[in-house]
Amino acid sequence: MRERKSGRYYFEKEYAENKGTYWNFKPSDRLIYFEKLLKRKSKVLDLGCGTGRVALYLAKKGHEVTAMDISETAISRLDEYAKKEKLKIKTFVEDMEDYKIKENYDAIAALFSLHFLPKNKVYKLVKNMKDKTKKGGYNFVGVFRKSKGNRNKYPFDNGELSKMYSDWKIVSYKEFSKEEKHGEKGKPHTHDIANLISQKK
Ligand SMILES: C[S@@+](CC[C@H](N)C(=O)[O-])C[C@H]1O[C@@H](n2cnc3c(N)ncnc32)[C@H](O)[C@@H]1O
Repeated sequence: MRERKSGRYYFEKEYAENKGTYWNFKPSDRLIYFEKLLKRKSKVLDLGCGTGRVALYLAKKGHEVTAMDISETAISRLDEYAKKEKLKIKTFVEDMEDYKIKENYDAIAALFSLHFLPKNKVYKLVKNMKDKTKKGGYNFVGVFRKSKGNRNKYPFDNGELSKMYSDWKIVSYKEFSKEEKHGEKGKPHTHDIANLISQKK
């Protein structure tokens, strides 16, 4: 495995330095809104799931969740939380960069993980996500946009994420800025975000 600033080693360090969830477990309004769109017992894939902010919430709501991340620490923490809460979540450690989605899903989520891939891999994976979503199913995607100080591998242009889904129904698309602080030692900083929920026609 090559060393990448934003890949396995970067996140392993972040997770090791911050016990617990790293990201807040409180479901965002958009996550609550997204879940309400899903039919009962939807089959959902969460790409770059971290410690399970999205996967755990969806599993609690009765959906059949599969979650993957490049970080072994994140996945083992997610497994522990799921066990404690008696939730069944299929998990695995994998690099999204060359990952091919094998099954078809009612919904696929990729929250704040795509911008860690290079541009060609982002486009390839989004195509794969769209192909592997069942007709009438949903994609829920959050990314960081280009802004001063953003050092992610592929910060998105304004409007770019919604353009990638121009052949789907855009249920909700929002661009906004958010002040955040990650983990116990994190410094407050601002992210320019694009957030999309779309439905396959
Ligand atoms: C900002 S966190 C978001 C976690 C979770 N999706 C959420 O919204 O709370 C980004 C996650 O993407 C994962 N990640 C980064 N590069 C990845 C890659 N190439 N393959 C799989 N996961 C990756 C990191 O390990 C990290 O857990």
